[in-house]
Amino acid sequence: MELKISTESIERTKTEALVLPLYENEKTIGSLKIIDNLLNNSIQKVLDSKEFKAELNETYLLQTYGKIPAHRIVLVGLGKRDDFKIDRTRQIAGTSALAVRSLGMKTFSILLPEAKFPIETNAQALTEGILLGLYQFTKFKTEEREKIKEVNEATILCSQYQLEEAKKGIHTGKVLSEAANYAREIANEPSNEGTPAYFARLASELAGKYALKLKVLDKDELKKLGFNALLAVGSGSVHEPKLIVLEYNHEKKPNTFAVVGKTITFDSGGICIKPEDKMDEMKFDKAGGAAVLGIIQACAELKIPVHVVGVIPAAENMPSGSAYRPGDILKSYSGKTIEIKNTDAEGRVALADALAYTTSHYKPKAIIDMATLTGACVVALGSAASGAFTNNQELLGKVKDAASSVHERVWELPLFEDYDEVIKSDVADVKNLGTGGAGACTAAAFLKKFIGKTPWVHLDIAGTGWITDKPKQYLGKGATGVGVRLIVELLRKWGK
Ligand code: BES
Ligand code: ZN
Ligand code: ZN
Repeated sequence: MELKISTESIERTKTEALVLPLYENEKTIGSLKIIDNLLNNSIQKVLDSKEFKAELNETYLLQTYGKIPAHRIVLVGLGKRDDFKIDRTRQIAGTSALAVRSLGMKTFSILLPEAKFPIETNAQALTEGILLGLYQFTKFKTEEREKIKEVNEATILCSQYQLEEAKKGIHTGKVLSEAANYAREIANEPSNEGTPAYFARLASELAGKYALKLKVLDKDELKKLGFNALLAVGSGSVHEPKLIVLEYNHEKKPNTFAVVGKTITFDSGGICIKPEDKMDEMKFDKAGGAAVLGIIQACAELKIPVHVVGVIPAAENMPSGSAYRPGDILKSYSGKTIEIKNTDAEGRVALADALAYTTSHYKPKAIIDMATLTGACVVALGSAASGAFTNNQELLGKVKDAASSVHERVWELPLFEDYDEVIKSDVADVKNLGTGGAGACTAAAFLKKFIGKTPWVHLDIAGTGWITDKPKQYLGKGATGVGVRLIVELLRKWGK
């Protein structure tokens, strides 16, 4: 997909489809008057007839019959001007890109909507909407590939005075969306291909491409170093666990920021095996690790001046004769012992080692983990927001700001001391299952035990990591790449 920018006027633009965003309930069409004159006022007519009201994400197709160089016009609604939020730009970009694609067109041009936001921000959102919207997971389709519709060129139209700012926004939007789509492609990968070794291969590709520092600890090294919790989670699988650490900008120490992603390449539940219904979706249990790879890629592309440590504890949770069991007690990397009550609460066990290692070994200024951790978080928040837990309100404030800019919403859930009580074990330091409900909170309380004093935010992305039912305007079914745009946005402002 090629993305271009042009200052050509809309009435001179030659394209298969010219996308024009409009606000709802406005009597005049303002700057579209010139083009509408050439079209015998057909835009004004469809608005007057109320056939098209410009409600948010409403679209309307007009043929131009050779009156202007653009073959067709796609009108797209922004909703009411007073209700405008930056995500609407993202939404209408996704909506119109998908409308163009479903009509079988290969190219389109879209006018940067007027909005009460900085031009750079608006252009970034428009770019994200287009590129995220057009992503599709097709690599395993071998039959009738010619029938897969694809747009291969999109042009953003703006005025000369907007050009410089728009270019910056488009660049950022492109890097962020490509990184998110890269993470989506990895999280969408089926688990027979997307193994811990596969993550190590991708990390090594990134390391080669961007001259990053890479460390991959395999099973034997993990054993030597005492990663017994991570090893236990992966012990039932033929695909051996790995701990992968990618460092971007390591010479920028001590301005160190760490990001850790749960990477269970398949979560069968282990000995406490899950029911068959939706078990296939547990290929997405590696979405956190996929996001880490996307984040590192975007940081390198944007040359962000921070030392970013990306940590991927990768394992497959399978039942077998060598699998870990309920009742097992593990001596984790931190030295704390963990009693296993349920082998399906494996994410927190694997993360216990990754978090303890990251904080003690890299001493980051802040650490954020992303994990498809609990079904309980999905019950609490659905797909509307990731659950956020913290020991540091200032860091969470930064996460919330970034979340609202990129519209990857987070919602704070508590870490009351009550939850520390219910994960106490009779026979070990902690158990991997709480009692008394609040499953997302007790899981977070478990992670907190392995963090120490480092400022930390835990994002439970179980409800936001992938979409199975209703696709959003710019996010189709499958992995969403959540966390990538959020954390890179945060890092862009880090230390500023
Ligand atoms: N990966 C799952 C969490 C999950 C479940 C994410 C459904 C998205 C949709 C996690 O490892 C898990 O199985 N958690 C259990 C924990 C329970 C055994 C305490 C859960 O949430 O049911
Ligand atoms: Zn599980
Ligand atoms: Zn899991």
